[in-house]
Amino acid sequence: ADSSLVDGFGRTIRYLRVSVTDRCDLRCRYCMAENMTFLPRAQIATLDELAVITERFIARGVDKVRLSGGEPLVRRDVIDLVQRLGRHVGEGLKELTMTTNGTRLAQYADLLAGAGMRRINVSMDTRDPDKFRFITRHGDVAQVLDGIEAATAAGLRVKINMVALKDFNEDEIGDMLAWCVDQGHDLTLIETMPLGEVEEDRTDRFVPLTAVKEMIEARFTLSRDLNGTGGPARYWQVDGSDTRLGLISPLTANFCDGCNRVRLTTEGKLYTCLGHDDQRDLRAALREGGTAGLDAAIESALTTKPRRHDFRIERDAAPAVARHMSVTGG
Ligand code: GTP
Ligand code: 5AD
Ligand code: SF4
Repeated sequence: ADSSLVDGFGRTIRYLRVSVTDRCDLRCRYCMAENMTFLPRAQIATLDELAVITERFIARGVDKVRLSGGEPLVRRDVIDLVQRLGRHVGEGLKELTMTTNGTRLAQYADLLAGAGMRRINVSMDTRDPDKFRFITRHGDVAQVLDGIEAATAAGLRVKINMVALKDFNEDEIGDMLAWCVDQGHDLTLIETMPLGEVEEDRTDRFVPLTAVKEMIEARFTLSRDLNGTGGPARYWQVDGSDTRLGLISPLTANFCDGCNRVRLTTEGKLYTCLGHDDQRDLRAALREGGTAGLDAAIESALTTKPRRHDFRIERDAAPAVARHMSVTGG
């Protein structure tokens, strides 16, 4: 059998995140600048190329694939990719899933569930329509809520992703968790990360989740849940409910020792860390050397995977990496 993928620090890679597009129909203020330059279409890998590369990772032991972006559902042929990869669920793949902003989820939920997805993460930093419009610059939260309802109706388990932001949604976290408990969703809170220039200084918005957890525990009883998803979050069960609370704390509780992830971009490049610039052009390796060339490029990329990111939230400092999260796929 093909041998599994291990990096230079002995970490086994089982989770591939694929950014299927760097484009998005929203412009969240902590994520993107108002005017973004997206990749020219000629540089974008075909769906077949992304699928071939992803299937090679599956053959090499990756058992979890997440499609992200940008907004994955703005790429026209994304459903073909979901359906093609969906054939591996249960044979090789334990989980095929997606992170979406939810604006088009109402149209796609049935297709996603039909292709073998069981769970989906939806980014929603606030349920207040005015605040949602502000943070996304364009978004309509009613569309996202419709998408979430459609996903639930299609049998998908929903996890809400909420980036905790000072003087924006900090005061809404308890109510968001109560709403998730009521609706039967999970909730993951995320610390804002210094990726790419945006108009605001992220320092002004940074909220350490250590403080948030104390605030939540004044209202909810949490028990640590050690059954992870293979992602970066630490989880707690909200007592008396079906809801899990996840905390993603890259700044206050580094999780890189347990990292099992690499990232494939829409250009077919492999980034071995969200927080570093090293990358390998897997599409070029595939074109020039076929499967053997691809394997060699993947293996050599893994030897360069850094031990950890170097994120810091420092006033007036340049972001740790210049590219936005939407390029690497989060
Ligand atoms: P689950 O399968 O539900 O655990 O999903 P996930 O948390 O792996 O994926 P999701 O796309 O919902 O990501 C949530 C947040 O975690 C995003 O802000 C990601 O950028 C961030 N994230 C995921 N992996 C890493 C990582 O390796 N390092 C850092 N710093 N952040 C990460
Ligand atoms: N820091 C933290 N989270 C971010 N996201 C996008 N940009 C950033 C950032 N700079 C979040 C989105 C989405 C997830 C994939 O990443 O809100 O939920
Ligand atoms: Fe788009 Fe997601 Fe960034 Fe918002 S956070 S602008 S939805 S990529």
